[in-house]
This record gives sequence, C-alpha cells and structure tokens, in this order.
Amino acid sequence: MMTSTETSTDMIRFYNVTKRYPGGQTALDDVSFHVERGEFVFLTGSSGAGKTTLLKVIFRQESPSQGQILVNGRNVSSIPRKKVPFLRRSIGVVFQDFRLIHRKTVFENVTFVPKVLGVHLKDRRRIAYAALRRVGLAHRINAFPPELSGGEQQRVAIARAVINRPELLIADEPTGNLDPELSREILRLFLDINRQGTTILLATHDKDIIQRLGGRLLTLDSGRLASDQTLPPGELARHETPASPSFVTEDGNEYEDENSPDGEAYSFE
Ligand SMILES: Nc1ncnc2c1ncn2[C@@H]1O[C@H](COP(=O)(O)OP(=O)(O)OP(=O)(O)O)[C@@H](O)[C@H]1O
Ligand SMILES: [Mg+2]
Repeated sequence: MMTSTETSTDMIRFYNVTKRYPGGQTALDDVSFHVERGEFVFLTGSSGAGKTTLLKVIFRQESPSQGQILVNGRNVSSIPRKKVPFLRRSIGVVFQDFRLIHRKTVFENVTFVPKVLGVHLKDRRRIAYAALRRVGLAHRINAFPPELSGGEQQRVAIARAVINRPELLIADEPTGNLDPELSREILRLFLDINRQGTTILLATHDKDIIQRLGGRLLTLDSGRLASDQTLPPGELARHETPASPSFVTEDGNEYEDENSPDGEAYSFE
C-alpha cells in the first residue's frame, strides 16, 4: 500500500475514511487526501460538514468507522490505546475556545503536559519562555487566563500547542471567537510556525482569511470531500523565510529564537 518514499514526504494520509457516529450520523463519507510535510492547508465547509470530526480522527479523539489514517507514517487506528498519548504529544492542537485552565497561570498552562511527564522545573521554565516568546507573551508568564484578552488567550493556547515542537499543528476554528484584527494576528502566528517547518491543518469558516492567505483548501460538504483546490497565492506565498528566525513581541523587541533547530532540541519521546 505504501512505499518508503511516501512515508518520508507525507504528514497526513486519509484512505477512504468514513465516520459514522452512534445514532447514525455520517460525519465523514469516504474521504481520501494527503498532506505533505511543511504544507499549510485550510479545511472548510458549512456547519456540520465534518471539519471537527476530520481533525478528531487525526489525533484519535474519535476513531473512523472505515478506512485508514496515517499520520507521520503511523497508522493511527492501530496504535494501541496505551500509546495514544504519544501520538497526541506529537500533534499540537488549538481550539476555538482556547481551553486554558483559568485557575492556573500561563506558565502552568503551557507546561502542563511537560510537568506530567516529569520535566524538571528549570527545563519547564526554559521551554515555556521559548514558546511564549514565539507568541509575544513572555511578559505575561505569571498571569492567569482571565486577566488576558481573547487574542492573548489564544496565543497562550498556541504556545501550549507548540511547546513540544510538534511536527503537525491542528487548529479548529482558532479565530472563531476573535475580531478580524485579532484573527489576522493569530493567522500571522500560524504562518510563522509553518515557516519554521511545522505542517498546519486549519479548519475555518472564514472566507476572508482563506482568500487573503491563499494556498491549499480542502472543502467538506456533508462529510464528503467536495474539493481539494489551490487558491491564487496570497500572503502565504509571500511569506518568505528570513535568514535568522526571530519573533517580534508586543513591545516591539525582537528576540532570537533560541529554540531554533540548531539549539537544544526538546522532545518527550
Ligand atoms: N459526538 C457526536 N455524536 C453524534 N453525532 C455527532 C457527534 N459529533 C458530531 N456529530 C455530527 O457529525 C456531523 C459533523 O459534525 P462536525 O462537528 O464534524 O461538523 P463541523 O464541520 O465541525 O461543524 P461546525 O462548523 O458547526 O463546527 C454533524 O452532523 C454532527 O451533528
Ligand atoms: Mg466544528
């Protein structure tokens, strides 16, 4: 079914995936597509079309009724239940409603999984600062989520999602609760993360954002993949890789990304 060449360039591959929920809803209907490493792909479709379900089967929040899914060369359905946390740790996930723990600080939120995994406090602080610098929020490391704006909360959620430098980042309507200005800021962040090499699959209703960025667009219609198209190039195409990656924070300071590939890599596995 697969050759080794396929595994090396594929990040996601769906083979005839169908998902029927108990009760009879067919949320995904014979969906096949693939996403290559480093791609930035939009997923759209009207409410109930199956976007969230498609994302959930990728990190095995749900299992398909039929078909196969490969993520980074691994057959997601055949991963033993015990190993599912390892799959999830290799995928960053961002939701519309941020899902931060309100009574924990930004630091505690972004380092929640590393702490569970026994990463020492000193290392947790280092990776938290690196991730928060990426989203321009290092100065709010001790704040609690309710003290932050919606856009800031989403940036914290993105920092949490990228803290383990996942190869794949999945986002479900990440700008759905934000006004257009903030949405553009958040999108710029996703572009930066993609530019650093992370593959991104982003579900959105927002036609304006899709048009503005351009690139590849998957459209679901009642669970079927209605189209897989490449839009005229927008900001995504113009987004050039700078010689030395750096991130500009809110106060206008520019920081080198000390966590860049030649720095100390951090991995849980
Ligand atoms: N847990 C569930 N049990 C039963 N049916 C479900 C469940 N989750 C989703 N569905 C149904 O599956 C279909 C696809 O839902 P899904 O949430 O994937 O759509 P969506 O494209 O993300 O919609 P939205 O844009 O509103 O978020 C819908 O008909 C929905 O009612
Ligand atoms: Mg949804």
